[in-house]
Parts: sequence; structure tokens; C-alpha cells
Amino acid sequence: MKQKSGFSGQIGFVFAAAGSAVGVGNLWRFPYLAAKDGGGLFLLIYLVLVLTVGFTLLTTDIAIGRKTGKSAIYAYEAMRKKWKFLGVLTFLVPVLIMTYYAVIGGWILKYITIYLLGSGKEAVADNCFTSFISSPSSVWFSLVFMFLTALIVYNGVEKGIERVSKFIMPVLLIMVIGIAIFSLTLKTTLEDGTVRTGLQGLVIYLKPDLTGITVQRFLQISLDAMSQLFFSLSVSMGIMITYGSYVKKDVDLNKAVSQIELMDTGVAFLAGIMIIPAVFVFSGLDGMAAGPGLMFVSLPKVFYQMGFAGRMVGIIFFLLAAFAALTSCISVLESITANCMELFHTERKKTTGILSVIYLIATAVIALGYSVFYVEVGLPNGSTGQLLDIMDYISNSFLMPFIALLSSILIGWIMKPSWIAEEMELNGTKFKRKKLYQIMICFVMPVIMTILFLQSTGFLNLFMK
Ligand code: PFF
Repeated sequence: MKQKSGFSGQIGFVFAAAGSAVGVGNLWRFPYLAAKDGGGLFLLIYLVLVLTVGFTLLTTDIAIGRKTGKSAIYAYEAMRKKWKFLGVLTFLVPVLIMTYYAVIGGWILKYITIYLLGSGKEAVADNCFTSFISSPSSVWFSLVFMFLTALIVYNGVEKGIERVSKFIMPVLLIMVIGIAIFSLTLKTTLEDGTVRTGLQGLVIYLKPDLTGITVQRFLQISLDAMSQLFFSLSVSMGIMITYGSYVKKDVDLNKAVSQIELMDTGVAFLAGIMIIPAVFVFSGLDGMAAGPGLMFVSLPKVFYQMGFAGRMVGIIFFLLAAFAALTSCISVLESITANCMELFHTERKKTTGILSVIYLIATAVIALGYSVFYVEVGLPNGSTGQLLDIMDYISNSFLMPFIALLSSILIGWIMKPSWIAEEMELNGTKFKRKKLYQIMICFVMPVIMTILFLQSTGFLNLFMK
């Protein structure tokens, strides 16, 4: 039998998986939520959730992948024939995410060029971001990003994905640490003479803010943290199953899971140190926008106020964001490629070639969703969105929690946790958090995932009214 391609060892796997996990979610969503949800309080809740819910989901996906040696569709079929449908649902998540992830990557590329070619003044102009995305020519940046992604996946697991991740992840870490330290040294004097420093911003980030806390607010913060965790770890979308299927049997999965958790949470935490003090010093925390607004509107204003240093920080920041987005985008395309290779018995180069054409078209359509194909659709969770938001809603708010719910029922009650434990204990390694895993997968996850599903789809609001 032909040897299945895979990662060369533990380090290659951990960097690739952490590369998938560390993405724009860490940079633009985590710091925003921390600032909105009581600083240290959010951090504490998030940390507890990473070590319990995050650990359970990550362990489940990776162990399923390595044990079955297959990607989502056939991995679920290998467990129970009747559950193949769950594999198909799981496969749908990257299929949908792939239509828009390169669009965001394209926006980042555009901002790199702004800082490379000018002082960054252009990025501060009113409506710079909206007028960029609503011009059809923005499509080109997204197509370049999509093409780069396809090229790496085309080169295979070890020579493409692993090689790129092993280079990008350490560089990204150094850049995040560098900007975080710089951010702490910032200082400005306002017109009324008050001095604002980066260290004061740090205190706001770290100190648990309990003012006006109620049970409802606490629950809201926990739900925010939970949906962030989900997206951030790239779980329940088949990506970690595919990556798990490439891991050699002698790799200790316990260590790998802990290292991935640590890197993903570490970068998210550092992104907060990088962004919150800087925004606080120059515009006060009211200037923190949500989502893309933070990265493409609030931060450019901060960089501009820093003068020349700001231009340098701008270049480094958008470069690191591009790196983070690229390794995530690769993982999405890889999981689609792997499923298709198993489904159609085609080899990698041909599969990636066909998928590239499909996704270059899809990327163009979604990118044009702000101009030529502009729509305004009301989503069940109360927001209105364009094509990109619709894809994001179906994949992240609807499918992911639903899949996690079904998969915890399958593992907890049908396959039984011991099925996963066997894989974690291969070669005599100790599954240190085994008890925790059993309790989580059988009892806690089904309840939590039902609540999260109802909340993120907007159904919970219907009940609470
Ligand atoms: N985990 C990535 C982040 O935090 O930005 C995002 C992501 C990557 C989501 C890959 C989904 C995905 F398929």
C-alpha cells in the first residue's frame, strides 16, 4: 500500500496545527472581547474553558484523525456507518469557510501594501476600508492570497504545509512579542494634561472588572468566550481530524494537544497586550471596534499617531496578520483537499488544481459581495450581513456547535471515551487528563453545546423573550 503522506514528527505537526489555530480570530476577536467583557474576568473564564472544553474538543478531533487515519467523511464512517452524515456535515464547514477566508487574507495584503508604499495616512482616511472592499478591484488581492494558499497545499503535507508553518510560526511569535513590548512603552499626554501610558492599558486588560456583574452578564461573557474558543482552536470542522490523520503513531498526542492549546492561547493573550494598551493610549478604549473594524479602522489610526515608528509597526503588524491568516487558510484548503482525495480517489496535485479553480471563482464572488453582488440579508441571530457574513453564520454559528454536540454524543455514548483514550495512551504514554475527558465528553459537552448552539443561532433569544 502506498504510504500516506504526513508530518515528519511532533514539531512539524504542532506548528502546523497551531498555525491553523492562530489566525485572525486571535488578533481581532480575542482582544476585542477581552476589552468588552471585563478584562481579566474574560481572561480567567477563557483560560478555564481552554483547559476543559478546548482540551476535550481538540483531543477528540486529533485522536479521531490519527486512529482512523482518515479525513472527516470517512473517519466518521469508520466509527459507525450510520454516522457518515456527521462526516459530511463536518466537511461542509471548511467548504464554506474557504469561500471567504482568502477574502480576508486579501484585505490584509492590501494594508501591507499601504504601509509599504506610504506613511499609512491613506489607511486613516474616512471610509478607507469600506471604500476599498466595495470597489470591485479589491478582488485581486484576495485572488493572490487564494493562489498562494493553493500553491502551498499543492506542494503537499511535509514539503508544503509543514515547511511553511515551521518558518512562519516562530517568526510570528517573535513579531507578536516585539510589538507587545513596544506597546507597553507607549505614552501620550492629552490636551487636558492627563497622561495615558501603555502600562495603564495593561492593567485594564488584566484586572478583572466586576462592576455591574450579574448572573446574566456572567453567562454572556462565558458564551462569548466559548464561541471564541471554538473558532480559535479550529475544532469541529474536520481540520484537526485531517491533521491528526497525518501524525505518526510514535508522537505523544498528550504533549501535542497541550502545546497547541498553549500556542493558540498564548498568541491570543499577547495580541491583547499588543492591541489594548496601544488603542487605550491613543484613542481610549471606546475606540475599540469589533471584528475587521478593529484591525482595519481602529489600529491604523493608532499607528498613524505613532508617526514613523507607527509605519514600521504597521508593516510588521499586517505582515504577521498575513502569516497568521495564511497558515489558517492552508489548513482549511488542506482539509477539503484531503476529503476530496479520499472521496474521488484522485491524487493531490490534480485535486488541488481543480479545487483552486473552484475557490478562485468562489473567492471572487464573495469578495464582490460588497460591490457587484451586494446583498443585505437578515440573519436569525438578529444581525444583517453580506455574502461573507452569511457563509460565516452558517459555518461558525450554526454548523460548528451542532457538529460538536453530535460528535460528543457519538464519542461519549456510542463509541465510549475509552475509544479515544486508547489512542491517547498508545506506546504506553499516560493520558493525564483522562478522568476530566470522560466527564467532559459524556456530560458537560452535550449540555454546553446545546446552549451554545441555541445562543449562536439566535434561538436562545426567542426563548428568553
Ligand atoms: N482558528 C482561526 C482563527 O482563530 O482565526 C480561524 C480558523 C481557521 C477558522 C481555520 C476556521 C478554520 F477553518
